[in-house]
Amino acid sequence: MGDVRMATLAARSLSEQMAIGLRRLGKPVAVITCWDGERRWAKTATAVTELSLDPPALLICIDRQAGLYRPITGGANFCVNILHADQLAISEQCGGAARGEGRFREGRWDSAACGTPYLRGCEASFVCEYQTHMDHGNGAIIIGAVTEVQIGTGEVDPLIYVDGHYAHPATDF
Ligand SMILES: Cc1cc2nc3c(=O)[nH]c(=O)nc-3n(C[C@H](O)[C@H](O)[C@H](O)COP(=O)(O)O)c2cc1C
Repeated sequence: MGDVRMATLAARSLSEQMAIGLRRLGKPVAVITCWDGERRWAKTATAVTELSLDPPALLICIDRQAGLYRPITGGANFCVNILHADQLAISEQCGGAARGEGRFREGRWDSAACGTPYLRGCEASFVCEYQTHMDHGNGAIIIGAVTEVQIGTGEVDPLIYVDGHYAHPATDF
């Protein structure tokens, strides 16, 4: 990195520098959903990680201001839906362009036996039972035990978010 760019970066706060660095971390896009007994919630998120296969568990990181923070940390089951490249509009709606039920306007949504919404036609959906969470600063780590898995039937072609843009991996090495 050139001296000028380093100097510009150094003038930013550490959290801004971190956000700039993280733009280079390309990640698959997921939509996290839950049902709180009265209404459905959905939110676009890239902070999704496999935690363990034995037992099957995932973790998600969400902002504590997020609408679904309270229902999930209150014990609601949730679902991690990994988006296919043709589901960009769903990512945008669930990323803030729509509110409430409007976030379910795009795509084909179904419900697991527990009532948790899941997305048909996506790469994979993991229905999770809430286990525990840890608050940290403005965020929270939430751990879910995977209870049900749906796998897409088409080509593997996940929607990726990198450097502030959507992309999908077109070529293999
Ligand atoms: C590509 C993309 C990835 C995102 N990843 C996350 C994430 O990992 N965690 C998070 O809390 N918010 C993430 N967001 C932001 C939320 O989707 C957005 O703030 C939210 O939908 C706002 O609605 P809410 O107020 O109901 O939470 C992401 C947004 C986009 C577009």
